[in-house]
Amino acid sequence: MGAHLPAVFRRPAVLWTALAAALAAAVITVLVVVPGADDDVSYLDLDAPVAGRVADLLDRMTIEEKVGQMTQVAVPAIEATPSDITELGIGSLLNGGAEAMHDTPEAWAEMIDGFQSAATASRLKIPMVYGIDAVHGNGALPGAVIFPHNIGLGAAHDPDLAAQAAAITAAETRATGVHWTFAPCVCVARDSRWGRTYESFGEDPGLAVEYAGPVVQGYQGEDLAANTSVLATAKHYVGDGGTAFGSSTTDDYLLDQGVTTLTEEELRSIHLAPFKAAVDAGVGSVMASFSSNDLGGGPLKSHADSYLINDVLKGELGFDGFVVSDWQGVDQVSEDYAEAVRTSINAGVDMVMVPFEYRRFIDTLVAEVDSGGVSEERIDDAVSRILTQKFALGLFEQPFADTTGAADIGSPEHRQVAREAAAASQTLLRNENDLLPLAADASVYVAGSGADSLGRQLGGWTASWQGGVEAVTEGTSILAGMREVAPNAAITFSENASEPIGGADVGVVVVAEDPYAEGVGDAGAGAHDMAVSEADAAAIDTVCAAVDCVVIVVSGRPIELTSHLAEVDALVAAWLPGSEGAGVADPLFGAAPYGGRLPVTWPRATDQEPMNVGDPAYDPLYPFGFGLETA
Ligand code: GLC
Repeated sequence: MGAHLPAVFRRPAVLWTALAAALAAAVITVLVVVPGADDDVSYLDLDAPVAGRVADLLDRMTIEEKVGQMTQVAVPAIEATPSDITELGIGSLLNGGAEAMHDTPEAWAEMIDGFQSAATASRLKIPMVYGIDAVHGNGALPGAVIFPHNIGLGAAHDPDLAAQAAAITAAETRATGVHWTFAPCVCVARDSRWGRTYESFGEDPGLAVEYAGPVVQGYQGEDLAANTSVLATAKHYVGDGGTAFGSSTTDDYLLDQGVTTLTEEELRSIHLAPFKAAVDAGVGSVMASFSSNDLGGGPLKSHADSYLINDVLKGELGFDGFVVSDWQGVDQVSEDYAEAVRTSINAGVDMVMVPFEYRRFIDTLVAEVDSGGVSEERIDDAVSRILTQKFALGLFEQPFADTTGAADIGSPEHRQVAREAAAASQTLLRNENDLLPLAADASVYVAGSGADSLGRQLGGWTASWQGGVEAVTEGTSILAGMREVAPNAAITFSENASEPIGGADVGVVVVAEDPYAEGVGDAGAGAHDMAVSEADAAAIDTVCAAVDCVVIVVSGRPIELTSHLAEVDALVAAWLPGSEGAGVADPLFGAAPYGGRLPVTWPRATDQEPMNVGDPAYDPLYPFGFGLETA
């Protein structure tokens, strides 16, 4: 204050009063403008209760920073401008099934840590959480163990074994710097023509209920911050496996992302029950479904369903983790993007897998908050849920990869568990004259597209989104497994059965589906159907006409082969057994028993679908729960 002041301020008493008022204002400003400045360790205080850390951090955040935390971005969209992660406070990154692949744990960790450096360079140093589809092993990492897909685990009727598989997957995933897997799918596949049938534990909700808890706990472990744990995701909420054939709202798909038409009671008993089990097990995230539910009032997108997310999932079931959208799932809610964002966030979606136009999403949601379309309370709830999981993951204390577990990736011990899981999933459907198990010194003629194709036995979500027929990672084909399990057997291989069968004692024809994922695999949608390929059908005819024969089916769902049954002496559903083909060979040669039981009904004909246990007119080739046993 100086000579330019009005005369009145030059009187000492007034001057001191004015100074005191200015000082008080300054002190209040400091307290208000930077709340928590004087306790800037509390959200970083490891010993403080998580709720207090969340509250303190939330108190410090701007609305833009909060919305940044609700934003999940795909690597290709931001890898050229990592500074955006810092500027916008991006809360999460992911790589979809077909991008940003790396060949070693170290290379994965280096990429993720690079993004993490950008995230922790933000004003409040909030780490990002990285997610991936490690749904049956860390399929994106060459050399990781790949377990049977869920349908095979369901056939094994062994949730504890599935939990072991999840725990190994978690360890082999966290060791690469990834914190979060979008698994398990607790979907209940009610129509086997669905391209995601193999991601389900089966058609009966009791199976998904039985598996959801142990598998979630397998992924998350006792301590989410451990370098062997990852955040799990129960998906896709809710009713994704109940859509009607032809109801898909996505071009080229038939079932996937379609409409499930049920009463609320039916939806609850069939599709909601597994989510209750997952929530009760402490699952940290739930992914919303692309599909819609029509409970009588017309179809409503699951991403827009406030009753099912806010009232049922978060209210009734008490889910305290966060809901993540599916890939551009918010965009499907409305052609008006602002309306789509407003509706989804108000319905209870907490994090949006944008995953490309992240600035548009952020700007749109901030504008919705400014206009009152979305309340700050809703934003605070979403961000609190997300931050709670980040604190539980230990990301504030250990934001960067701990790759010490990389030494165990693909270890013999891990592969042994996968082999046991593959063996336990084998489901024996026919065994005329007790042809199986084969003698260890038998002369065996092997044919079929699935016999020596690691890619086919792995299925989708392996090395890429759709998988591939080539050897997409390390592992043992079924043929190699047969040679390993029965070294004294004389094994001849001819994929199309063009080689002479000669004096073989028995033929083994391994028929297979080519890999697929999501709606691409919907039967009848295009390249995929529930039928034996022409080449494999010819191999069956050739081999089974000459000798006693075993047909092994490598598939993500039942395959129509009724017309071949008369010529087949033994029939095995191998499902998608994963990287350890010896697991298929073990029961074949009696090194393990057959004990699998059908997790889905096996129809006589594809057009019998949907056909499920309990249906009034139930006339399958093999019923749900069926499976022959050997010693
Ligand atoms: C996909 C799938 C979902 C997956 C996500 C990320 O569209 O529906 O299961 O986790 O996108 O890849």
